[in-house]
Amino acid sequence: MKRIAILGSTGSIGTQTLSVLEKLEGFEVVAMSCGHNFSLFEEQISKLRPRFAASVGRCERLIDKFSEITFFSGESGIEEMLEASEVDYAVIAVSGATGLRFSLKAAEVAKRICLANKESLVCGGELLMKRCKEKSVELIPVDSEHSGLFQLIEGGIRPEKIFITASGGALRDREISQMQNASLRDVLNHPVWSMGSRVTIDSASMVNKGLEIIEAHYLFGYEERDIETYICRNSYIHAGVSFADGMVKLHVGIPDMRVPIAYSLTYPYRERILDHEEVTSVSLKLEPIKSERYPALCLARAICGRLSEQIAFNAADEIAVEAFAQERIRFGDIYNIIEKTVSAFRDQKPVDYSQILEIDRLARKLARKEVQKCY
Ligand SMILES: NC(=O)c1ccc[n+]([C@@H]2O[C@H](COP(=O)([O-])OP(=O)(O)OC[C@H]3O[C@@H](n4cnc5c(N)ncnc54)[C@H](OP(=O)(O)O)[C@@H]3O)[C@@H](O)[C@H]2O)c1
Repeated sequence: MKRIAILGSTGSIGTQTLSVLEKLEGFEVVAMSCGHNFSLFEEQISKLRPRFAASVGRCERLIDKFSEITFFSGESGIEEMLEASEVDYAVIAVSGATGLRFSLKAAEVAKRICLANKESLVCGGELLMKRCKEKSVELIPVDSEHSGLFQLIEGGIRPEKIFITASGGALRDREISQMQNASLRDVLNHPVWSMGSRVTIDSASMVNKGLEIIEAHYLFGYEERDIETYICRNSYIHAGVSFADGMVKLHVGIPDMRVPIAYSLTYPYRERILDHEEVTSVSLKLEPIKSERYPALCLARAICGRLSEQIAFNAADEIAVEAFAQERIRFGDIYNIIEKTVSAFRDQKPVDYSQILEIDRLARKLARKEVQKCY
């Protein structure tokens, strides 16, 4: 039995992880955490009865109701839960930069991290990779593109270049002039994936693809210029690698996050999660990305490998996306807020978690000011 902790069990990746685990044998969920969605969390813990549970907000009702479960609260409580639960695997399905602190803790106490939280690498850079290496902890990506790259790269001759795909998001067929004022409803209407709200909005702006280029840079050690991006409208091609002799290998499959989630849990083995796809009906087509449509993608490329700017990029996006989700700013404002925030954090080189946290705090403060200027 592998003992598992699922952090962010109430989110899109968290709930899909639970549905995958219903099909897998040999796993015991011993620890779960949520943010503030207590009604869903209650359903989950009453079904699974983990030994440990944690939430960002404190919920007395759950603590009273499930007296046999040891509860923790606050972000530090989630870390305490990880420490107490002695898990083999930690699934980091929390959204946002805060995921880094949980990934770093998991790298101390678990044997494998199943990493959905891309911000852990964008904001932590080498820090998380080094900690995993020092502690011999396996870091298995959950992001579908990075799971694809992991499967293509592992164990063979090192490819010269790698690429990841984007669906193009909800605004892929809009005129550029119409993108600036796109409504929240339009932006949340993703053509392929059903995901959490931030990652859906980030898909339309391609901030998400920018974060993923940075994620790939740290996970696989490629320079930004060797990480290409294409649009694959149906998201069947997740990733590809090309070799010195001109050969290309593609990673192709049904766009369903349960597959990479399951692989991160069962690696190096595979289990039946979905039925086989009828491949003859699937179009495998890649299109170039028009960079003029996606300034945030260009900015992410420019700052890839520069940690302070990456932290500021992510922090500003979190603040701007929150404001857009509350319909306080226009879609087009998101990029301007990110760009202004990032430009204030050049040439800083954070070396530990406390310095990362400080840059993140200052960047959020600046981004909030930029949001206010948009009113
Ligand atoms: N969704 C996808 O298909 C997908 C694909 C690839 C990668 N990812 C990445 O996976 C991560 C999670 O994405 P998602 O779409 O699943 O997000 P989501 O649906 O918004 O879920 C986020 C989860 O994190 C919890 N949470 C929020 N703030 C927290 C905090 N400060 N401390 C602890 N827990 C907190 C939430 O709790 P409550 O809801 O209870 O408040 C929820 O359980 C992101 O980094 C995303 O980029 C997602």
